Amino acid sequence: MNGGDSNEDTEERRQVMSEVHLGCPPGIYGPHISRFTISVPSEVESSRFNELFKDEESCTEQGIGFDEDGDLLLPRRRQVSRRCFTMKIQHNITSSIPSVGLQVWKAELVLSDFVLHKMCTSTVFDGIVSLELGAGTGLAGLLLARVAEMVFLTDHGDKILDNCVKNIQLNSGVLNHQGVVYVRELDWAHPWPPKVSLDLASQERFSWSSSEVEEVQKASLLLAADVIYSDDLTDALFGILERLMSQGSGKVLYLALEKRYNFSLDDLDVVANGYSHFRSYLREGDKCEGLEPGSFPCFRGLRINVAEIPQYVGEYDRGKDVELWQIRYNKGKVLKFGLSFQIPVPEPGRQACLNLFVAK
Ligand SMILES: C[S@@+](CC[C@H](N)C(=O)[O-])C[C@H]1O[C@@H](n2cnc3c(N)ncnc32)[C@H](O)[C@@H]1O
Repeated sequence: MNGGDSNEDTEERRQVMSEVHLGCPPGIYGPHISRFTISVPSEVESSRFNELFKDEESCTEQGIGFDEDGDLLLPRRRQVSRRCFTMKIQHNITSSIPSVGLQVWKAELVLSDFVLHKMCTSTVFDGIVSLELGAGTGLAGLLLARVAEMVFLTDHGDKILDNCVKNIQLNSGVLNHQGVVYVRELDWAHPWPPKVSLDLASQERFSWSSSEVEEVQKASLLLAADVIYSDDLTDALFGILERLMSQGSGKVLYLALEKRYNFSLDDLDVVANGYSHFRSYLREGDKCEGLEPGSFPCFRGLRINVAEIPQYVGEYDRGKDVELWQIRYNKGKVLKFGLSFQIPVPEPGRQACLNLFVAK
């Protein structure tokens, strides 16, 4: 490494690759389209499946294969399964760190599983307004738009937002969206609400209108996947979450993350520092009660057991390091004489499950 390199130069040059892309053709530096097969498990009632996906194409195909003895297996009749479909996602196979939103990360697939499961086993997401932060390629939000009234896919930078628009276009036929999907710039380093342009002619492509900002105030659901990987970004993320969640309707955030371990010279051990910093923002369960006066408000975190969420998205290996958190924001007030009380955010609904898979 050159002594004169700034951190920014190094970040721009260093290429990283998501585990999800193992098996993608090597040597492709630009955009690549992968097919993700969504299989709906048998426990999902047929009536709900038909309501959500009845027009989808079959995704079960049988190719020529060989049995254990090496004998040729000829495909019989092509099997038609009406319980799966494919999503096409444009993504890069590798990227620099500032462009990681051009890749698909494992946490997005776990979050998609969760969203699909909720959608398939309940109606809690039907007709809601939702916003995904750091959406990247946008799979989870896109799936949600099948039942939601409005979904905002948000990220930072035109390259990533343009790619997200492309993914809406690629799947418009498949998803037959119930709701409206907006792609909008939402940089966590800037305050919420964002500046709105009243002059339509001078509006930038991914900027907000005042009516859209009002819709987000009414949103009940926030989503985020793989947004915990740098302490500075985690601070910025919780800053904007506080603004988003303290205004308008009660909101619940589902955040999927991948724990990443590094060797730390300070600790002389392998540690997940980014994860510890994230956890320092959360109080578990009902621990917001009994906090010291003046320490309100707080984020209440509940870890969801990922093993209980069936895998709808195929062809990815969940591994053990992805966690899913339900996070609520407790607005609190500090009273005179140092007493405090809390206003609990209303429960927006019960959970769901799902399962998914990536193919080339
Ligand atoms: C590891 S990627 C995850 C993308 C996608 N959610 C997934 O899991 O496939 C992190 C995402 O956070 C976004 N991000 C990073 N810093 C941000 C900021 N300051 N404001 C908004 N988004 C940001 C990146 O652009 C990127 O899309």
